[in-house]
Amino acid sequence: MKTFSVRSCSPIRADITVPGDKSMSHRSAMFASLAEGRSVITGFLEAEDCLSTVGAMRSLGAHIEHTGEGTFIIEGTGGRLSQPAGDVDCGNSGTTMRLLSGIVASHPIRTRMIGDASLSKRPMGRVIKPLSEMGARFTAEGGDGKPPLVVEGGVLKPLSYEMPVASAQVKSAVLLAGLSAEGETSVVEPAACRDHTERMLQEFGVTLDLGKADANGRRRIALKGPQRLEARDFAVPGDISSAAFWLVAASAKKGSDVTIKGVGLNPTRTGIISVLQRMGASIEVTPLDPNAAEPLGTLRILGGDLHGTVIEGAEIPNVIDELPVLAVAGALAKGKTIIRDAKELRVKETDRIAAVAGNLRSMGAQVTETEDGMEIEGGHPLHGATLQCFHDHRIAMAFAIAGLFASGETVIEQVECVATSYPTFGATLESVLKE
Ligand code: S3P
Repeated sequence: MKTFSVRSCSPIRADITVPGDKSMSHRSAMFASLAEGRSVITGFLEAEDCLSTVGAMRSLGAHIEHTGEGTFIIEGTGGRLSQPAGDVDCGNSGTTMRLLSGIVASHPIRTRMIGDASLSKRPMGRVIKPLSEMGARFTAEGGDGKPPLVVEGGVLKPLSYEMPVASAQVKSAVLLAGLSAEGETSVVEPAACRDHTERMLQEFGVTLDLGKADANGRRRIALKGPQRLEARDFAVPGDISSAAFWLVAASAKKGSDVTIKGVGLNPTRTGIISVLQRMGASIEVTPLDPNAAEPLGTLRILGGDLHGTVIEGAEIPNVIDELPVLAVAGALAKGKTIIRDAKELRVKETDRIAAVAGNLRSMGAQVTETEDGMEIEGGHPLHGATLQCFHDHRIAMAFAIAGLFASGETVIEQVECVATSYPTFGATLESVLKE
């Protein structure tokens, strides 16, 4: 069993690099596999989740060659996927299963997707519903919309879909299915959620109609099918969701001075920066090429004192994966931090509201769990504890960061799951502890 053993550390003064963005890595492998021709993907996140996507696209007929660290040459299928020989293993990855559902739905093949214990408990009804309306046939063998998921694809009808939750995975699944349906497919998102699918589909030659968002970020996105993807070279920037751990650690540790280069700065993902700045953090953002398909740049963080804030409403989808570590920031900040409207956290790799509230309390923080979030009375000293991460990578990493501020030793057990999104996190943590 792998563990993280963490103790309080000195101010962090370092240049930190983070691996490639997970959401973009998944999409780069999928879109290049659908495209006509040869794409070269660099900066790809070689973590278990994204490698599950690579394995899936190979089993559907794409020729994918690994030619160096983070580099893949992909010979696309030209939109003609083949019948996979066996089950498609999505591992721990909800993104793989949900986006792939939209891709295979329009092909005359039968795809049986399986996942690990955590993925097998996650809701797939949210993609089954719209994709079934388009004409694909689904069997959720786990019952109640749970995996294993069998998709029997075929000719699809276009769909106008109003999403009940702001989910980029659902939006992507419907748009990807719509690529092969004759006519206009549209999705209305109730609040802005990550738009990598829209940006990257355009990069791969697809024409989309991106409606204007209203004040709450509600927006209609449409495309006319059928459309084909053309091969493109794509450089994946660093993952702001991985940088998030160091953003919180450096912001809250006085005297710290941390620079993170090459981080993705897509505005649907930078909520972590705004929330921390609102809490009093000193974060300087230097954009590199704001007109790139996926903007990126450098972050410099100086440590200081944080104060509490409220995180709610339309901001939630923008920080959904960062909420565990933002809750840790809340515990370190003076005053009250409230997280609400974040019920989605209950259906992530684990119930992240229960996991975060329970672990923070074990370290001495004052936390009240609510149905859709939590309230944290910050500023109470944290003490070391032995913690579970419930096989959830972001819980493991968020509490390793909490351990950097606690008295005594914090041990997080069974941290193998960190390999799903950030395999080098442990090495960076070691280097921070050695300073
Ligand atoms: C993702 C979307 C989000 C996010 C997940 C990755 C994506 O999930 O939490 O880690 O790449 O589209 P939802 O779409 O369920 O909100």
